[in-house]
Amino acid sequence: MNENAMKTEVIPASAADMAPFIESVKAWTSDFALREGRAPRCHVLTFGCQQNEADSEKLLGMALQMGYEGTDDPANADLILVNTCAIREHAEKRALSIIGQFKHLKEQNPHLIIGVCGCMVAQEHRRSQLQKSYPYVSFVLCTSVLYRLPQYLAEVQARGKRLFKGEEELTVAEGLPIQRASGYRAYVSIMYGCNNFCSYCIVPYVRGRERSREPADVIREVQELVEAGYKDITLLGQNVNSYGKGRADGYDFADLLRELDRIPGDHMLHFMTSHPKDATKKLVDVMAAGKHIAHSFHLPLQSGSDEILRRMNRHYDRAQYLEILDYMREKMPDIAVTSDIIVGFPGESEADFEDTLAMLRRARFDMIFSFIYSPRKGTPAAEMPQQIPREVQNARFDRLLALQAEIAAEQNTPLTGTVQRVLCDGVSKKNSDIYNGRTPQNKIVFFEEPAPEGTWLSVRVDRAEAFALYGTVIK
Ligand code: SAH
Ligand code: SF4
Ligand code: F3S
Repeated sequence: MNENAMKTEVIPASAADMAPFIESVKAWTSDFALREGRAPRCHVLTFGCQQNEADSEKLLGMALQMGYEGTDDPANADLILVNTCAIREHAEKRALSIIGQFKHLKEQNPHLIIGVCGCMVAQEHRRSQLQKSYPYVSFVLCTSVLYRLPQYLAEVQARGKRLFKGEEELTVAEGLPIQRASGYRAYVSIMYGCNNFCSYCIVPYVRGRERSREPADVIREVQELVEAGYKDITLLGQNVNSYGKGRADGYDFADLLRELDRIPGDHMLHFMTSHPKDATKKLVDVMAAGKHIAHSFHLPLQSGSDEILRRMNRHYDRAQYLEILDYMREKMPDIAVTSDIIVGFPGESEADFEDTLAMLRRARFDMIFSFIYSPRKGTPAAEMPQQIPREVQNARFDRLLALQAEIAAEQNTPLTGTVQRVLCDGVSKKNSDIYNGRTPQNKIVFFEEPAPEGTWLSVRVDRAEAFALYGTVIK
């Protein structure tokens, strides 16, 4: 699968390493502008998780730095970067089908350069598929060398070469330009990669070994965001609780969070994701004592069956999960806890699934993200016997959603009549007569009073449903 999956040496990289390539692309874009009377345009299309969204902001940042303009319309673009996800088969299929649709854009605009980035292209079989069957794709770029975009682009532009290289190195690149999608909500990657090798998951193979940024670099970035007026800052990592692991000074995620909490301002800090095996009471204590740390916790359970958890290689059981969950609820009674659940893992019996339902009733999550198990090439679970038939998976999935909808409604009902702090996201995307925002617990709130995006509001909750709160702005 990924020839470099086991590589552990981390190479510090910096935007400065790319200086000659940046100059070369800049020369190309200014020639283009002279010839065409406009700057070349770049479109970035993102699939997958927040990590990919954060990476896309860097891809676009680098393109703008090199003289491109951003465009929302791929049909208008001279450079299309597709940032792909490989977590489930569906994600890969969607990306491939959209890349396929870009073929006709290349026919209309022969100068169009299409690059495929992200987790999917860290897999050898996908790289050769793109190279062979998608001749209009010019290059692939793995997440571990994201900062090399200028180099790849320069080589494609200068020599018309197609580049389908695998991951070359594990880097922590600092100093990349970031074109943030929002002016008040921001993502900050604090670490990259994953070492956990959950038996179903492709991420450790496609994102490489865990590596953390230096605390000073993270603190500086968060400080700058707060000074720039950002109100909601989410720290990102596949398993933020192993931040700093291996450091000689023992500095860990709780230490980082405590330092970040000291930055003055009216912002909130979120983080994701936490692995239950590494979530510590120290972290919970830092949250409970914090001023800026949102009382919200995403703690993926995956399954409520100890046997399935063991075969998922998760390294915790139900009892350990509940211990940390109960501790959180004790220290922060207003905390919202969300989770991820996989349905239909190989060998999942009806009794195993019932255990998951029982855990949902016990844990009382505010929300869950549920997924039907999708076999990933190269992962141990894909080779396990007793793959569950699709109809069984679907039926269990529906039962899971129905139960969670009941629980979520019960969790939200007591919020009726309370006043919530809400960060306004402006007009609702679905209904232009209604405004919406989110509480620090990440609950979505709808209200009628117009209010500007990125401002804090006090909203009295008039009605609480399973997936949303409805209220009135009181100031
Ligand atoms: N690092 C995070 C999230 C990783 S991906 C964590 O450990 O929780 C987000 C979610 O996708 C996972 O929590 C899991 O529920 C789901 N997922 C991962 N691989 C999957 C697969 N092969 N099939 C179905 N769901 C999967
Ligand atoms: Fe995947 Fe497990 Fe790592 Fe999360 S912790 S990214 S589920 S291997
Ligand atoms: Fe997908 Fe990669 Fe994220 S596989 S979920 S984009 S880490």
